[in-house]
Amino acid sequence: MQQYTLRDVRCREDDARLVFQWRNDPVTREGSFHTGKREWTEFWPGFCDSFPEAGSPLPQFVLCDGNPVAFLRFDPPRPGAGHDELVEVSINVAPEARGRGIGVSALHLAEDYLKRFGHDAILALVKADNAVSRHVFEKAGYEATGEVGITPAGEQVPTLAIQYIRRLGSGPGAPG
Ligand SMILES: CC(C)(COP(=O)(O)OP(=O)(O)OC[C@H]1O[C@@H](n2cnc3c(N)ncnc32)[C@H](O)[C@@H]1OP(=O)(O)O)[C@@H](O)C(=O)NCCC(=O)NCCS
Repeated sequence: MQQYTLRDVRCREDDARLVFQWRNDPVTREGSFHTGKREWTEFWPGFCDSFPEAGSPLPQFVLCDGNPVAFLRFDPPRPGAGHDELVEVSINVAPEARGRGIGVSALHLAEDYLKRFGHDAILALVKADNAVSRHVFEKAGYEATGEVGITPAGEQVPTLAIQYIRRLGSGPGAPG
């Protein structure tokens, strides 16, 4: 079975370029709450500013044979989503690497990583029409706990999202 590992995303242009490239992929944009195309000139200056403070989970690349194949980001839950005590995970698998089981593996690695910071549960908000992502979160042991409307900055109309919670340390697929 293929082995995947994590490495910290660094505040460096080459890492930012990869995250930027994957972020602007059309399928990624379709699956995101902010569907607009990002411009490098505004993405790069904000890239390092968005890094969390010391002691918080850093964004991660999932590596396969040393090469990045997916990106994970961890944030405080967005306003209005509730569950202030949880950490919110976002995932983006490299466009050329999708459909190979990396998504599920990456979410299991994220669990191991977050446990080191004392988190005992993870939140994910998935667009209701993102069938692949919903399937992957459910397969990774996340439980759908409700629906929530997410209104991205600059937009008026909320997007329907499914709220998923993964309690760590129990259930199928839980890290040992
Ligand atoms: C969603 C995403 C993270 C999934 O990662 P992945 O590595 O491609 O997913 P996997 O290969 O682990 O699994 C794909 C699963 O979806 C299933 N699937 C494919 N098309 C599907 C569909 N239309 N409806 C439901 N399930 C579908 C596959 O059968 C597979 O399940 P299986 O292993 O049980 O057969 C990845 O496709 C991605 O980065 N998409 C763009 C960004 C995005 O949407 N991120 C999530 C935001 S919440």
